[in-house]
Amino acid sequence: MTKQTTTSPEWASGSAVRSRFNSIVFGYDFWSKITESDALKRALEFADIRDGMHVLELASGTGRFFRWVVHANPQGINVGIEISGGMIQSTLKKLNGESSHHWNIIQGDIRALPLQRHHWDRVVGNYVFDLLPREGILPVLKSMAPLLRREGKLVISTMAHGNRWYHKAWEGIANRFPQLLTYCHPIAIASEMEKAGFGVQRQDFISQNTFPSEVTVAVPTESSNQGQQNPTTLQEEYHA
Ligand SMILES: C[S@@+](CC[C@H](N)C(=O)[O-])C[C@H]1O[C@@H](n2cnc3c(N)ncnc32)[C@H](O)[C@@H]1O
Repeated sequence: MTKQTTTSPEWASGSAVRSRFNSIVFGYDFWSKITESDALKRALEFADIRDGMHVLELASGTGRFFRWVVHANPQGINVGIEISGGMIQSTLKKLNGESSHHWNIIQGDIRALPLQRHHWDRVVGNYVFDLLPREGILPVLKSMAPLLRREGKLVISTMAHGNRWYHKAWEGIANRFPQLLTYCHPIAIASEMEKAGFGVQRQDFISQNTFPSEVTVAVPTESSNQGQQNPTTLQEEYHA
């Protein structure tokens, strides 16, 4: 039986998430380079972004992936949603000098996105669903389906369960010392995506320097694509 990871009760609050990620901005790119960058490359491949598309990145972080998106889609529409102001500043520095101006980072919470329905060709979320409290994953996934266009795709990377002892060691750290991994915990995202009304097209397991990840691509079913989204307000807007 899989042991359930504990998540902090404060984790549900946006201000707690913001201050936690503001405090790790400087080390995050190094962590990502040694543990998550292979999965991010796979996510880019799965997303199959072509110029002119409408692409939404959930929790765009320091902008590593977002910069690749803008390079792949210089004439399209590229929007990142990110809760932490510190992370957004890091993205703005990375994108300073980009020749494409077809991008925008919005400070907001992926749990409440007032975005246009049937507008996006790709929605990508790397290492953010594994931060949400378990009971919070399904509602956010369900709110993604109506955002996508009919042929649109949802691509998600997460920390995953794995079979090797070192994968289980990471799971042990997530369970026993959740603060060390900023409450990141392994999840089985494919089954959650299916419960949310997506059809999973492909999933790859990637172990980078022992850290276990899964990258999953899925399309919404007809009925989930017609559903409702949560109307709320975004906070501040950042523009190039
Ligand atoms: C582990 S980092 C991943 C960043 C980026 N996606 C990547 O793969 O490099 C998680 C990011 O999610 C952001 N985040 C966490 N909860 C969020 C939420 N509810 N809404 C928007 N962003 C959130 C954090 O501020 C942080 O930048």
